[in-house]
Amino acid sequence: MQATHQERVINYFKSRSENGQGAISDYLSADTSQASVFVHNSDYLRLANKQYVVSRQVEQLKTCSQDAFFSSTLLEDDGLHAQLERRLGQYYGKECILTQSGYVANTGLVHALCEPGTHVYTDNFTHASFFDGLRAKANMKKHGSGLIIIETLYSSNGTFAPVKEVIALKQKYDCVLVVDESHTLGIYGTHGYLHTLGVEKDVDYITASLAKAFCTRAGIIMGNSALFVKENSFPYIFSSALTENDIVRLDSMLDVIKDSDDRRERLMRVSHELREGLARVARVIRTPIPSPIVCVEVDSELKVAKLNRHLASRGVAAAVFVWPTRPKHLPVVRMTTHSELSASDISTIIAAVSSYSNVSKL
Ligand SMILES: Cc1ncc(COP(=O)(O)O)c(C=O)c1O
Repeated sequence: MQATHQERVINYFKSRSENGQGAISDYLSADTSQASVFVHNSDYLRLANKQYVVSRQVEQLKTCSQDAFFSSTLLEDDGLHAQLERRLGQYYGKECILTQSGYVANTGLVHALCEPGTHVYTDNFTHASFFDGLRAKANMKKHGSGLIIIETLYSSNGTFAPVKEVIALKQKYDCVLVVDESHTLGIYGTHGYLHTLGVEKDVDYITASLAKAFCTRAGIIMGNSALFVKENSFPYIFSSALTENDIVRLDSMLDVIKDSDDRRERLMRVSHELREGLARVARVIRTPIPSPIVCVEVDSELKVAKLNRHLASRGVAAAVFVWPTRPKHLPVVRMTTHSELSASDISTIIAAVSSYSNVSKL
């Protein structure tokens, strides 16, 4: 028999939060008010407060007379939103659709690409936003042509998808391939990971959250059938568009990202140093390709939360990744590195993890 709503609420709190305050307040959160080393947000190139970007946004706020509080479908063809989509399209060599977030990009793209019964191939670490879109329509089946969905760099463990092998499968079985580049766009070369591999033409659709290297509350879908996607994506049609201030911020970020080779190079160097240093004192997920996401594996959610609190007490703000972001038995502390991490920051993190491992085994 199906549980009532009230029973579901009670069962949830029983399993996740004994004090009834919610899992985050009960055991997952850490007091980071004294932290001086921040590895818990995705501003990889530390561009969020770039003067050029902020001044353009302030100027826009002073001069904008009327913003568009309606669906993107009603925007004008020559407005700032459409102009930026064209600029991004020229830059990335694909038609571009700007969305209100990366989550919306993924859910909306899946709405457009799937019909009831479409076969879909993906894996457990692909972002939840895709599954949200799939729940409504598709069939998770294991044969035949269909839709393949992967991420270049998996946000929940910092490892890479075998992109070239997946492209070969897509070609063999005549599938549509969607690749989420949230954690690589603007970070691997000026364009992204697929571009550095020289395979972006073999991918049908690329999506990304722009709340990572572009540090803007927005998302993007790139492909060759933008109009089809726009006209079949519910979040595009039924939710209000980005504001002009978001658009100006993104437009300025694109200028800055193009010009950030030194930051990209530094990001890769510091993340390598952190991963190697941590691997000497803890169980770290390794990857043959340099990855800015460094995860320490811990074998229970309670221990992961304890390690995270210990790090916070040592001045390090990291993030716990537990269910539903990770399988229940594979929680991690995730560190999202950034280009301004100093040698002393890296030593602080390693010392903090090491002092915890010494006290109690991970
Ligand atoms: C791989 C990936 N895709 C999509 C998203 C969703 O992006 P947004 O925060 O812009 O909604 C995220 C954010 O966590 C992500 O890591």
